[in-house]
Amino acid sequence: MKLIAPSILSADFARLGEEIKAVEQAGADWIHVDVMDGHYVPNITMGPIIAEAATRSTSLPIDVHLMIENPDQYIPEFIKSGAEWISVQAEACTHLHRTIQMIKQAGVKAGAALNPATPLSAIEWVIEDLDYILIMSVNPGFGGQAFIESSLDKIRLLKADLKKRKLSPLIQIDGGVNSKTIERISEAGVDVFVAGSAIYGSSDYKKTISEFKEKINK
Ligand code: DX5
Ligand code: ZN
Repeated sequence: MKLIAPSILSADFARLGEEIKAVEQAGADWIHVDVMDGHYVPNITMGPIIAEAATRSTSLPIDVHLMIENPDQYIPEFIKSGAEWISVQAEACTHLHRTIQMIKQAGVKAGAALNPATPLSAIEWVIEDLDYILIMSVNPGFGGQAFIESSLDKIRLLKADLKKRKLSPLIQIDGGVNSKTIERISEAGVDVFVAGSAIYGSSDYKKTISEFKEKINK
């Protein structure tokens, strides 16, 4: 089963609760919360208070994507917020193994995210512990950027590696997912599709999500 995870980064924050309910009613599977600290990435977005408000706005699982320095300091707060999935940028973790364990010990699903320039080998020795792997297909920081094509080869390589290891964490893609790119991304082997501007920038969320689902569930 392939999943659509709208990123609320592109939602109207003045009506955040309604915007989350709207994508839930439109067929979304997860709600993706992009946390940025102005240090790890050149943008500041939201913290645990918003993640907690998001969990109260929907019955869908909340997926927190931490694009922050020193994630260990904030993970307990995000766990308390009720998030069911939490990913950290592998590059931001000095002790990635410890960080992943910290998330899992709380009963939360743990993911590692890799920037476009980061090789898959960065997660080689934690791969067995991961519930999901996030391949960034833009440089993190902003919504609405163009999909980086080399991500497709990275997904294919990852998929082959997981098969060899007999592992099946979910593969998530984030950045530049839209009606033009989603089919090729799906063919490469992605399970969870994050999309911000393509969903929240569209006039009919239901139509957009249905189109996405048709294209990925062929
Ligand atoms: C990028 C964020 C993404 C972003 C995707 O730094 O991690 O989740 O919201 O935005 P779109 O779908 O507009 O590329
Ligand atoms: Zn994200």
